[in-house]
Amino acid sequence: MFNMFSAIPSDAEKETLIIPIIYAKYNPSLSIEILKRNQRRTMEQNLLGRVSLITGASTGIGRAAALSLARRGSHVVINYNKNRKEALETEKKARCFGVKTLVVRANVGKEKDVKEMVKKAVKEFKKIDILINNAGGPVKRSSFLKCTEKVWDEVMALNLKGTFLCSREVLKQMVKQKTGKVVNISSVAAFHGSPGESVHYAASKGGVHSLTIGLSKEFASYNITVNAIAPGLINTPFHEKFSTPERVKRIISNIPISRIGTPEEVAELICFLASDAGNYITGEVIRISGGR
Ligand SMILES: NC(=O)c1ccc[n+]([C@@H]2O[C@H](COP(=O)([O-])OP(=O)(O)OC[C@H]3O[C@@H](n4cnc5c(N)ncnc54)[C@H](OP(=O)(O)O)[C@@H]3O)[C@@H](O)[C@H]2O)c1
Repeated sequence: MFNMFSAIPSDAEKETLIIPIIYAKYNPSLSIEILKRNQRRTMEQNLLGRVSLITGASTGIGRAAALSLARRGSHVVINYNKNRKEALETEKKARCFGVKTLVVRANVGKEKDVKEMVKKAVKEFKKIDILINNAGGPVKRSSFLKCTEKVWDEVMALNLKGTFLCSREVLKQMVKQKTGKVVNISSVAAFHGSPGESVHYAASKGGVHSLTIGLSKEFASYNITVNAIAPGLINTPFHEKFSTPERVKRIISNIPISRIGTPEEVAELICFLASDAGNYITGEVIRISGGR
């Protein structure tokens, strides 16, 4: 960071600001290139050596987040529930970036599992800098009148209780460290309500928004930020399980950007909020939905 109160710029300041300013006079396009490269490097550097725990990282957005964080040099704790084979595939890909990895099975809706997962992560890495509460889904689509107590309880356990339990256990560690970043993955369903097909899911994600706001205020004094990302339609195995091709087509026809999003696009936003670039952002719910 450029320190306006120091007369002598550090080497990093020279490289990030002064060199591009000098080039700007003689070669503006090169100057822009250097600035862009430096911006990328700054973001990558401040994730270097960090430890990220990503829930539901066996597939989809969780896997993309684990790989984007690993690409920037963060060690990754890869959580899964049922799909060990895919979790090991995420691990194999993450290791290509030279980071350390730990694969942990845990049902995020079960206190005992979550406590053990966090304990293992802290034992291995001595800290957790970043928590991505990503594990989630609608469990089953159904109209409100057909939503059973079992489905309601399961969806709340996965999306809301899971975020509560993982946040509580990891925040205990972050409070000791006096630093941390929590990113919760909710859904635009929380804004739309998903009438007729998954009001239960929308309600659980709405709860994640309230949790995000409350935690952001309760932990701000510990230098911990808590934000939520609300994705729209994203191309992951989620839709093989919970959507018909007709449903996907119908939603795309209502997206101003006219296409489905990619998990990598969501992962970029996750990395932004998890990096120092997001230091002054907390308690926000950011939509990534192509304008929907
Ligand atoms: N895709 C979309 O269009 C979309 C839109 C809005 C929000 N989202 C949200 O984005 C998040 C990621 O979804 P995705 O699209 O990437 O779906 P996905 O590919 O189906 O991934 C879901 C992940 O959650 C894990 N998971 C499920 N139950 C779990 C449990 N009880 N404990 C721990 N992990 C569990 C799964 O692990 P196992 O397979 O190993 O069990 C899997 O890794 C979810 O919170 C979802 O609600 C997705």
